[in-house]
Amino acid sequence: SSNQMWGGRFAAGPDAIMEAINASISFDKRMAAQDIEGSRAHAAMLASAGIITDTDAVAIREGLLTVLSEIDNGEFQYSAALEDIHMNVESRLKDLIGEPAGRLHTGRSRNDQVATDFRLWVRDQTDAVIVGLEALIRALLAQAEAGADWVMPGFTHLQVAQPVTWGHHMMAYVEMFGRDMSRFRDARVRMNESPLGAAALAGTSFPIDRHMTAEALGFDRPAANSLDAVADRDFALEFLAASTITAMHLSRFAEELVIWSSAQFRFVALSDRFSTGSSIMPQKKNPDAAELIRAKIGRIMGAMVGLFTVMKGLPLTYSKDMQEDKEQVFDAADNLMLALAAMTGMVADMTANTKNLEIAAASGFSTATDLADWLVRALNMPFRDAHHVTGTLVALAESKECDLPDLTLADMQSVHEHITQDVFDVLGVHNSVASRVSYGGTAPSQVRSQIARWTKNLNKD
Ligand code: ARG
Repeated sequence: SSNQMWGGRFAAGPDAIMEAINASISFDKRMAAQDIEGSRAHAAMLASAGIITDTDAVAIREGLLTVLSEIDNGEFQYSAALEDIHMNVESRLKDLIGEPAGRLHTGRSRNDQVATDFRLWVRDQTDAVIVGLEALIRALLAQAEAGADWVMPGFTHLQVAQPVTWGHHMMAYVEMFGRDMSRFRDARVRMNESPLGAAALAGTSFPIDRHMTAEALGFDRPAANSLDAVADRDFALEFLAASTITAMHLSRFAEELVIWSSAQFRFVALSDRFSTGSSIMPQKKNPDAAELIRAKIGRIMGAMVGLFTVMKGLPLTYSKDMQEDKEQVFDAADNLMLALAAMTGMVADMTANTKNLEIAAASGFSTATDLADWLVRALNMPFRDAHHVTGTLVALAESKECDLPDLTLADMQSVHEHITQDVFDVLGVHNSVASRVSYGGTAPSQVRSQIARWTKNLNKD
């Protein structure tokens, strides 16, 4: 039999394969709440504009609440023959209230309906991601506060470069996740326009009030061009782009945690709650959560590339290709939320091994730059010359298999006769980090003022 929603011109129903490729109900049922919210707003507007009666609007709006509770209770019977969430809901509404259900779709199309539902869904997720990012930032701030003075090696090329503080390293991620948060906020501002009432593509001859539905659904305004309103999926692409950048940041941090928790580094102990054992090696404690977080970028960036690829060649306005927008966004959103929650838990639970951090901070001639800077300051040497003298001292220490602070003053003076005992003050890692007081530098005083700034900003909004 032909479709009850659009079957007027059809003599036969679809092939089973057609139904299988066409139906989206298996995944777009996740937008049921948004679909019902949008329809309720539309019905109220139709009545207020005199397009349907108040009695019909009340029947529709209450019937939709019944449908929503059936869905929430798991009683709702989804049907693939009814293709998608929009027609499943409307069809059930018809069972419940009869004829007025058929008036709901006046001045509307599934094209503006799906665009509206999906925007509402992505907007909800955007808000959830922002909350998740804030929780992660707070966990990082707590680590930074605890370890504002702990020294650890800062790396370039994964080679020890200069001593930094644990707090400073944590705050680097606060900056990254803070930018992510602002990217989601920016995206939210742009996505918050209502497509509802664009109808199929051209608008409608009914005297609808798009401002009213926009406001009822929490949008800032109706989208200004009906063609764009039904054709646009930028909001989903921006969500995926922001998600991909966040996932990239999570992946870098996860990689550091994998390295830091290894037996070779022993910088941190991850808690049992976020580790797993091996079925054959009894001694193993593996950082699986960190590894999975590191991997999530694969599917999240995959979703972004996937949706760009779906959208890139589509002529205006709606094409059924666009039904392929949802699953990837759902999957990316789910996995981003999971990764954020796992990272937040791991950060909150992890214990820094301050002794190992400090030993590592002093390794690899990490205060060589401090020594060169001392030569510049104390002996008024040009930095390039100081760099050369320091290099010679590093080579000397290397040949003696000791660190820079273990050289004697006589060793030092054999390379440059004017070096004095004072030089040893700058070779310690604590002095090194304490001296880096330039704005944004690793000195504990700088780190503390950045922690204070972030805490204040977070508590403001
Ligand atoms: N299930 C469809 C989608 O997700 C709804 C819109 C259908 N519109 C249409 N003209 N066939 O895109």
